[in-house]
Amino acid sequence: MRVLITGVAGFIGSHMAEKLVDLGYQVSGIDNFSDYYNVSLKRQNAEILQKRNVEVFEKDLRKPEDYRDLPRDFDFVFHFAGRPGISANSSFDDYFSNNVYATELLLNFSLQNKNLKHFFNIGTSSIYGREATFTETEVPRPVSNYGVSKLAAEQLVLSLARSEKLKASSLRLYSVYGPRERPDKLYTKLIECASKDEKFPLFEGSEEHLRSFTYVGDIVDGISQALTNYEKLNTEIINLGSEEEFSTREGIQFIEEILGKKIRLKHLPRRAGDQLRTRAKIEKAREIIAYDPKISLYEGLEKQVQWYKEFMMPQIS
Ligand SMILES: NC(=O)c1ccc[n+]([C@@H]2O[C@H](COP(=O)([O-])OP(=O)(O)OC[C@H]3O[C@@H](n4cnc5c(N)ncnc54)[C@H](O)[C@@H]3O)[C@@H](O)[C@H]2O)c1
Repeated sequence: MRVLITGVAGFIGSHMAEKLVDLGYQVSGIDNFSDYYNVSLKRQNAEILQKRNVEVFEKDLRKPEDYRDLPRDFDFVFHFAGRPGISANSSFDDYFSNNVYATELLLNFSLQNKNLKHFFNIGTSSIYGREATFTETEVPRPVSNYGVSKLAAEQLVLSLARSEKLKASSLRLYSVYGPRERPDKLYTKLIECASKDEKFPLFEGSEEHLRSFTYVGDIVDGISQALTNYEKLNTEIINLGSEEEFSTREGIQFIEEILGKKIRLKHLPRRAGDQLRTRAKIEKAREIIAYDPKISLYEGLEKQVQWYKEFMMPQIS
């Protein structure tokens, strides 16, 4: 069976590629190696994948001509590529073009794959809005351009499924962390600040934010379970995340404990668009795909610190 993973050189996409190789799939991936964050991290991920026989195409999903030479015999597509997160450095056009327009072109390409059995869209809890503590039937109320553009992308995918042109589902992920986490995200940034002895920039009020921090291994296991059960998922939305919630303050304390070092903070004004609370409601995932996240936050953070020391410290010195 042949699978295509978009955003394969990124944080979660690279783990998904390794997981599917382990499961015996023939894995190809697309990435445009966007410079939204340090491109050398993505090159490092792609190199690891190529050693495991993953075919990596350097293509931009927003460019129609970049689809021309791609194979068209994929059985499954996993769509991770996009502009993630909430950042002052990302414009409306960055979110719109990478999340919405790119998805539209990828869908057109996917329709040309005659073997295609299922298209998995990777959605986000940011679609729900200020709080993300709901079941999948809740009306989305996103509060950021990121959330709005991911909602639009999800609806593009599901509209094709509803009109029976494509079999597809959307998996909404919650605060994913672990080895290879993006440098703009909480834990990699905390570990980096501690290692470089720099102050960690903390947005006002964010210590109290609650998150369903979910270990990346539990996410790719959940997506693999979705693949096993793909025939039950057409037109469905499924939440994938941890049911345990922790505050950012608790997360910082865990990292301090693991590193044995106090992290100095630099307080910044409140950031617009941040969610106050996320807690994954995963009854549907438990029922349909037997999803069962296992790794505790402390255990997952120990793995992330270990990864950072092994792969990231040489880049700092
Ligand atoms: N990390 C999280 O906590 C989280 C939570 C919920 C949902 N998600 C979703 O998971 C997906 C992956 O997130 P991530 O954290 O791994 O981010 P990431 O930035 O590490 O990975 C995305 C990858 O997509 C590539 N890409 C972006 N635009 C592209 C384009 N136009 N053409 C080809 N490649 C392109 C980037 O170069 C990058 O390597 C995203 O869709 C994100 O919305 C992530």
